[in-house]
Amino acid sequence: MGRALDGVRILDFTHVQSGPTCTQLLAWLGADVIKVEKPGGDITRQQLRDIPGVDSLYFTMLNHNKRSITLDTKSVDGKQVLERLVQYCDVLVENFAPGALDRMGFSWNRIQALNPRMIVASVKGFGPGPYEECKAYENIAQCAGGAASTTGFDDGPPLVTGAQIGDSGTGLHLALGIVAALYQRTATGHGQRVLAAMQDSVLNLCRVKLRDQQRLGHQGVLREYPQYPHGRFGSAVPRSANASGGGQPGTIVKCKGWETDPNAYLYFIAQAPVWQQICQVIGREAWISDPAFCTPEARLARLDEVFAAVEAWTITQTKYEAMAILNEHDIPCGPILSMQELANDAALRANGTIVEVEHPQRGTYLSVGNPIKLSASVTQVRRSPLLGEHTEEILTEIGYTSAAIGALRSTKVI
Ligand code: COA
Repeated sequence: MGRALDGVRILDFTHVQSGPTCTQLLAWLGADVIKVEKPGGDITRQQLRDIPGVDSLYFTMLNHNKRSITLDTKSVDGKQVLERLVQYCDVLVENFAPGALDRMGFSWNRIQALNPRMIVASVKGFGPGPYEECKAYENIAQCAGGAASTTGFDDGPPLVTGAQIGDSGTGLHLALGIVAALYQRTATGHGQRVLAAMQDSVLNLCRVKLRDQQRLGHQGVLREYPQYPHGRFGSAVPRSANASGGGQPGTIVKCKGWETDPNAYLYFIAQAPVWQQICQVIGREAWISDPAFCTPEARLARLDEVFAAVEAWTITQTKYEAMAILNEHDIPCGPILSMQELANDAALRANGTIVEVEHPQRGTYLSVGNPIKLSASVTQVRRSPLLGEHTEEILTEIGYTSAAIGALRSTKVI
């Protein structure tokens, strides 16, 4: 079976998390991804190591299905190799600090001159504006993109989330931009620049909060937020704890075992169309027709009471029992699953979302596979490359002889 991006070559100058997420996705969709690393390698090969001297899980889990070439792109000979690689590939992806590619001597104009079809895709912390020269990491983006100010409890500080929306979220945005630019190139024959700024991507993922900012301006309150009706609203969207971000109220409730198990909880949505079933399951049949509860409008001021009654029922069930019973009645809910539970989830393993990967240095490890399933482009997850594993192979492909490769090695260019 072919794959969606067969024939597309990616010159992968990415490091750390945001860029590698993007290029790993492209590799899973079939692109040939050539990861260029300084002779010392991507810094994450050594970060958060769990086994001495072995590529870290941080690196292996973000660099599957890629080839690795080491290259000192600041040396004269290294720049010549890079020129050939620019001519050989379709897309250059980078997430250097602002200006690094220009300082390396590979400005957009120079790349265009070398290969007018090349797409140059960048992750930066910030788009044009006062912060465009600033470096950025995951949590900086979460804070600057609106996620932290809207996450947490009303009486606590802003919180960052474990979902890597700044890094991996931006990588996803960039991958989509690259695929779109490749498609446009089929008509124009020309490359273009693609930029995904981490602040913009986080804000895009937080767009419901910008919605709420405007609703707050019009109404002075947000009636599905836990601050309503007894708390205070200021001028900015407050932290909404575990309230649902949508039109159907929801929250996290305790389940059997919560006293000892930190994940014995369930997300429960009081979806209006199944109000009657909810009342029946939790034993509050009187609420089905009680005017104080029977309409979504009436319930908004009584959500505390509603969820307390739901919890009085869920606390008698494990999260899995509650999930099964509620789904029998078409009531939307979701168990709080730990990483340990997810790692052992049979269905996730069966569909390739959790995969076991063999690595020559570390043995078998678990990874998240491709979450995007294409019926005619199936992903096989291959281990990440060792540092420089494909240097000779790639240099040979772009016309270097063994003697020339030997010379590059002796001068430490590769
Ligand atoms: N050969 C020689 N030099 C190389 C090289 C290679 N193959 N690859 C990179 N370099 C050089 C760069 O040219 C740069 O040199 P310069 O600063 O003299 O111009 C240098 O290595 C370091 O660049 P970079 O890794 O970008 O800077 P950093 O380590 O100081 O910053 C980040 C790291 C992540 C903060 C920064 O890259 C950044 O802000 N990136 C954009 C946002 C982003 O993606 N952040 C999320 C990371 S998950």
